[in-house]
Amino acid sequence: KLEKPKKKKKKQDTSGDSEDSSISEEEKKAIADMAAKEAKPFSIADTMVTLATRAGFGDYQVNAAMGLAKSLGMNPRECASMIVEKIRPKIEDFMEEPEIAGPGFINLRFKPEYLTSVVEYMASDPAGRLGLPKVSKPQKIIIDYSSPNIAKEMHVGHLRSTIIGDTLSNLLSFSGHDVVRLNHVGDWGTQFGMLVEHLRDEYPAALSLETSQDVDLGDLVELYKAAKKRFDVDDEFKARAREGVVNLQAGNDEEIAAWQALCAASRVEYQKIYDMLGIKGLQERGESFYNPYLKDVVEDLESKGLAVESEGATAVFLEGYTNRDGTPLPMLVRKSDGGFNYATTDLAAIRQRVEMTSEDGGERANRVLYVTDAGQAQHFDMVFSAAKMAGYVPEGSSLEHVPFGLVQGEDGKKFATRSGDTVRLKDLLNEAVRIAGDDLRARTENENVPDDVIDQVARIIGIGAVKYADLSMNRESNYRFSYERMLSLNGNTAPYMLYSYARICGIIRKASGQEVVANIKWPEASKITITDESEMELIRSIVRLPDILTEVEQDLYPNRLCDFLFETSQKFNKFYESCSVNKAESPEVKSSRLTLCTATAGTIRLVMNLLGIEVVEKM
Ligand code: ARG
Repeated sequence: KLEKPKKKKKKQDTSGDSEDSSISEEEKKAIADMAAKEAKPFSIADTMVTLATRAGFGDYQVNAAMGLAKSLGMNPRECASMIVEKIRPKIEDFMEEPEIAGPGFINLRFKPEYLTSVVEYMASDPAGRLGLPKVSKPQKIIIDYSSPNIAKEMHVGHLRSTIIGDTLSNLLSFSGHDVVRLNHVGDWGTQFGMLVEHLRDEYPAALSLETSQDVDLGDLVELYKAAKKRFDVDDEFKARAREGVVNLQAGNDEEIAAWQALCAASRVEYQKIYDMLGIKGLQERGESFYNPYLKDVVEDLESKGLAVESEGATAVFLEGYTNRDGTPLPMLVRKSDGGFNYATTDLAAIRQRVEMTSEDGGERANRVLYVTDAGQAQHFDMVFSAAKMAGYVPEGSSLEHVPFGLVQGEDGKKFATRSGDTVRLKDLLNEAVRIAGDDLRARTENENVPDDVIDQVARIIGIGAVKYADLSMNRESNYRFSYERMLSLNGNTAPYMLYSYARICGIIRKASGQEVVANIKWPEASKITITDESEMELIRSIVRLPDILTEVEQDLYPNRLCDFLFETSQKFNKFYESCSVNKAESPEVKSSRLTLCTATAGTIRLVMNLLGIEVVEKM
C-alpha cells in the first residue's frame, strides 16, 4: 500500500533554492522511490501500479498522485507529472508515453512490440512455466487445509477446503515458495473416549497393539453413531468414556491401540477421496501432534495473565468479543475436567508453526493459511489475537484465515440427498464422473472411442467440473451445487475450458499436419505479426497472467484465475472467428497465429493445472 508521507501540508519554503521548493528533500526521495520502484515489465508486484480498470485506461494505472498531492499540498496534476518524470526512464523501453488523465490519474500503456515479445517468450515454453519467473524472496508457507475429523464423515465443507487449499498450495509453490501442505485432522479429543470404549465391547482385538491393525472396523460412520447413542443414554458407559479419554491422553497401550485402529481406518476412507481428487503432497499432521505442547501453552498464558479461571475452566477473555447478551465471550483453553480445547491445540500449533525454531522442532513459517468454512472466523480471530498478545507470532510472520461459504443444494437449502441424508463425497464425485461419461458417449457415438479413453476423459471432466465450479465462485459466498451447471459446455466451467484447450490443440495439429496420436508437438515460437485488433486483444488478456498470479498470491481468491481463463478463452474465440490460421494470408502470419494459439493453450493448461485440473488434448 502507498504509505502517506508523515508530514502535513507545508507552507512555501522561503529559501527559494529550487523550483519545487514546497517539497522537502525527504519527501522528494519518498516520491522518487515510490515511483521508480516497480512499473517493471511482466509483473506488478508493487501496489502503486494497478491493473487498469477499463480498457480505455491502458494496461496499468497509477492512482497515487491524488493522495500524495493532498498530503503534500500540491496540485494533483502537477504531482502526477512529477511522478511521470520519475517513471519515464524506467519504462520507456516497453511503455508508451504515460498519459495524465482527469484529476491526476496516470495511464500506462504497453508498446505493442513489448506485448508481442512477451507472448513470443511465453510460447517458447508452452508445456512448462511459460517463462514466468519465480519470486525473488521465497517464503515458507504452511497451508492448513482439508482437515476432516477421524471417525466422522468427511463432508462437503472438507471438500471445499481440500479444493481451495490445494489450488492455493499449487499456486504458491509455482511462484517459488516453500509450501508445506498440512492436513490438520481432528484425531484427538473427547469423542475418542466413547469410541474406544465401544470398541472394547464390540471389537476387543482393536485394543491390543499386536492385533489392532488387523481389525476391520466396518463403516466408521455407523460405528460413531452407535457409540454416540450409548454415550447419550447410558450413564455407566459415559463414565467409562470419560476415563477412556484420560487413559488415552496418558498414553495407555489399550487406548492407544484402539485409537490407532480408528485413525488408520479413517485414513483409508479419506485417502479414497484424495485419490479421486488427485490430491498429492498433503501431509497428515493432526491435532494429536500438538498434544505434548498443550499443557505448556495454558501455563504460559496463565503466567502472562492472559488466561484466567472461569467457572472451573480456564479461559482467555479478549476485548471486543461478547455473547449475544453482551456478557464477555470466553475462549476456553482448559476444561473443568482438565481436558484441552480446539483453541488450545490451535495456539500450540501456532507456536510450533511460527514461534519455535527448527532446532526445537518448529517450522518458522512466514505465512500460515487456514482454509476453513467462514463459521470458524471468530475462532481464528480470537486464537490469532491471543497468540499475538502472548508473543507467539514473530515479526514477519502472518496468520491468515481463508474462509469460505457453505455448499448448498440447487434450491439454496441444505445440501442433501433426495431423501434428506447427507451426501457422501464418494457418491458426489462418482455422480459427476458418470454424467460426464454419459455425455461423452452420446457425443462420440459414431467415433469408436475405446471405453478406457472415455472413462479417463470422463474422470478429468467430472472431477474437474466439481473443482472448477467451487473455485470459480468468490470463495466467501455460499455456493449452490448443480451438476447441470458445472458440467455445461457453455459458460465459465471446466468442460468449456477443457474444450477450448482441446480445440486449440486441434487447430495446431491441423495447421502443422500432426496426426491425433501421442502428445501434441508444439510449434516453434515465431515472431508475432499483428494484422487484426482481435489478436491484440487476446495478447492483452494473456499477458495479464503474472499479475493475476500475484494478486491471488496476496489475496487468496482463486476465482480470479477462473475469470482470467474465461476471459482469455473468449478473446481466443473472437480471434479465431476473425482470423484464419490455416488460410492465413502469408506463411509469416500463419506462424504468428500459431504462436498465439500456442501461448493461449499453454496459458490455459498452466492455470488449469494450478486449479488441480488436468487437461486433455482431444475431447
Ligand atoms: N477439523 C476441523 C473441522 O472439521 C478443521 C481444522 C482446521 N484447522 C485448524 N487448524 N483448526 O472443521
